[in-house]
Amino acid sequence: MYSEKFTESIRKVEAAREKNIAYEPARMTAKEKEDLLAAYHPDYKKEEFEILRIGPNKGEKVPHELAEMLQAHSRINPAEIDLSKPDYDVDVLVIGGGGAGSSAAIEADNAGAKVMIVTKLRIGDANTMMAEGGIQAADKPNDSPAIHFIDAFGGGHFAAKRELLYKLVTEAPEAIQWLNALGVEFDKAEDGTMITTHGGGTSRKRMHAAKDYSGAEIMRTLRDEVLNREIPVVDFTAAIELILDENGNAAGAVLMNMETKALLVARAKTVIIATGGAGRMHYQGFPTSNHYGATADGLVLGYRAGAKLLYADTLQYHPTGAAYPEQIFGALVTEKVRSLGAKLVNADGEVFMHPLETRDVSAASIIRECTTRGEGVDTGSGKGVWLDTPMIEKIGGEGTIMARIPAMWRMFAKYGIDIRKEPILVYPTLHYQNGGLDITPDGMTTNIANLFVAGEAVGGIHGRNRLMGNSLLDIIVFGRSAGRNAAARAKDVVPGTPTLEHVTKFEAERSAAGIEGDAVSPKLLPTYTHRDGKL
Ligand code: FUM
Repeated sequence: MYSEKFTESIRKVEAAREKNIAYEPARMTAKEKEDLLAAYHPDYKKEEFEILRIGPNKGEKVPHELAEMLQAHSRINPAEIDLSKPDYDVDVLVIGGGGAGSSAAIEADNAGAKVMIVTKLRIGDANTMMAEGGIQAADKPNDSPAIHFIDAFGGGHFAAKRELLYKLVTEAPEAIQWLNALGVEFDKAEDGTMITTHGGGTSRKRMHAAKDYSGAEIMRTLRDEVLNREIPVVDFTAAIELILDENGNAAGAVLMNMETKALLVARAKTVIIATGGAGRMHYQGFPTSNHYGATADGLVLGYRAGAKLLYADTLQYHPTGAAYPEQIFGALVTEKVRSLGAKLVNADGEVFMHPLETRDVSAASIIRECTTRGEGVDTGSGKGVWLDTPMIEKIGGEGTIMARIPAMWRMFAKYGIDIRKEPILVYPTLHYQNGGLDITPDGMTTNIANLFVAGEAVGGIHGRNRLMGNSLLDIIVFGRSAGRNAAARAKDVVPGTPTLEHVTKFEAERSAAGIEGDAVSPKLLPTYTHRDGKL
């Protein structure tokens, strides 16, 4: 139920609905996209970035908030940590209990390794759980991994590391089969074939989904598998520093109990960082669709140990975060809403873009509508544009919303908005970290041996923009592969002398560069204040 101030604009949307359903907006040209991004996309705002002064990516730009974390003090004084008596001693240490970490742990366990997951919250408290729309895989007769590659490569501005993207698309069909066999309840037609839809920037329908809670369904299944296998999970315990050996190879992590703050030592032959994304860094003050623990921890852990980052200056702003009501500000409104036919329209009820442009282009287009074009809707706490959800029922027939996107219906119904009958207000929300640690196709970092990375903490799989559904895919493909490879490698590792010398050196580098401030990292949890400024 909307208040009266929206009535006039909603009337215009309703009046134009039939015409807008029939209207096929033109795709933008490459030049139009380039100009739009340069003028409106947050990644292009020079003043929001700074140059790193220390570490492996010294001289490169990253968002201010990330620079502060990458160049902050450690949470530990290395001199106070006794590495000689580890609390845990394993073959493979997985840091992070989301989809990538769980997939890695399952495969490491399959390979016979002694594997342990450590997670600062609980297993499943992760962006995987929040993912809605689906997972891509080219497994239909009119599709192929090559076409999937072309879509994703173009969508990522031709910047993806080709060997990583090749692995992603070629292993995708098998990843779907693996999940299906584990018990993920994908949407299927009566004949048992998987139902697939389009996402932004896809030239074929290859989005496999479990309604609009695909990530929750995948995470449920992976979590069950981890627990059924009795893989040890140390929860409410954060990794706060990596341990290296005398040759600079990964050899474990210093852990911190989130409640008692007690420090623990985990020794490992190989380490997998699967800590996820960074939405809770709220870059540029954006709201986020991410879970509470998404604070770029893996990037900090890797960076302080000397691992290189790739594309850490590029973030994804999902075009359709909820803009109203305020209680769900920034929550994800899945792209599937648009793939089922809903179009984006402005305050005057005009369609202003093709609904399935890539995400960076769509986000920039909405920001333009709400700023210079002055065609956004005033929500009371900001601006938004309409996503005309009743179109879905008109196109797909009555019942489509409840059958395909019931979670969306529920999210708005709580606030008296029936998305089958009323449009919803959306604005871009911080959704995904395109950049991350630089890896080779086996999942190991390019410059620290025995340190693997999987999931959103990896940079370069998608280039400088990711297509919908390729993230749920990468956590499975690269998670599984990291688990297998880390387990295989662990067999040949002869444990060396553990050290935290790199932490001491980093602190010295920081002082020498004259970096001031008392920030410590990894951040672990976001800092929120009340409106009166109190914590
Ligand atoms: O729109 C969505 O459902 C998000 C999917 C994704 O980020 O892959």
